[in-house]
Amino acid sequence: MRIPSQVSVFKTPEELALAAAERFVEHAQNLESGFTVALSGGKTPKRVYELLATEEFRTRVPWDRVFLFFGDERCVPPAHPDSNYAMAYGALISKVEIPATNVFRMRGEGDPNVNAKSYETQLRAFFAPRDWPFFDLAFLGMGADGHTASLFPHSDILEESSRWVRQTKSPQGQCRLTLTLGALNHAARAIFLVTGEEKAAALSEILSGQPASPRFPASLVKPVDGTLEWFVDGEAASGL
Ligand code: 6PG
Repeated sequence: MRIPSQVSVFKTPEELALAAAERFVEHAQNLESGFTVALSGGKTPKRVYELLATEEFRTRVPWDRVFLFFGDERCVPPAHPDSNYAMAYGALISKVEIPATNVFRMRGEGDPNVNAKSYETQLRAFFAPRDWPFFDLAFLGMGADGHTASLFPHSDILEESSRWVRQTKSPQGQCRLTLTLGALNHAARAIFLVTGEEKAAALSEILSGQPASPRFPASLVKPVDGTLEWFVDGEAASGL
């Protein structure tokens, strides 16, 4: 299959992570005002965050002008091993000179509905007077079932048309908070980071030119006034 132009295939996950870190730096440097980033959770982006914390990358980023947000979070405390914040804190946030006030953690502890509303309030205040958040960059992962953030196949929140943050559950019943498609689709740049054979089938379906479908929520990410790119490794691209 001809690979669509917005897809970059990398031989290895390490090469993919290096390219993603480079892209982060490039955009951070080119933005005079603040650089707003929605971080993905899961395992794939961890290496990108670790690279950004290395001397080669961190010294090239104006961290005082970087603002970090989260695409989703599990309903667990910030130090819990399942916490996306814990992963990003350990790999990146604790290792760079980013002001604590520039990091907007999704609270996983406590009442998820209250936490979803509170995060939305924070986002609305930060991005006021916009009708949607405007992330300069949104890093996204994709599960083997085509989910992204905590937007799972056939979930009712895929229809959400006004809320920016919602509580939801994974198919396994794990409580989650997630940015909605509306919030993600107003990013200036969305970059999916996808590695592994187990994602090849969903990726092939999504990039095959089929209409976007709630069967594969990642296919519904189409920035209305921004760019969409896929950084994939050879294994994930094996079905393309
Ligand atoms: C999460 C993520 C989720 C993740 C995918 C891929 O909280 O788990 O937001 O959407 O990006 O499940 O996860 P891996 O990178 O671990 O394969």
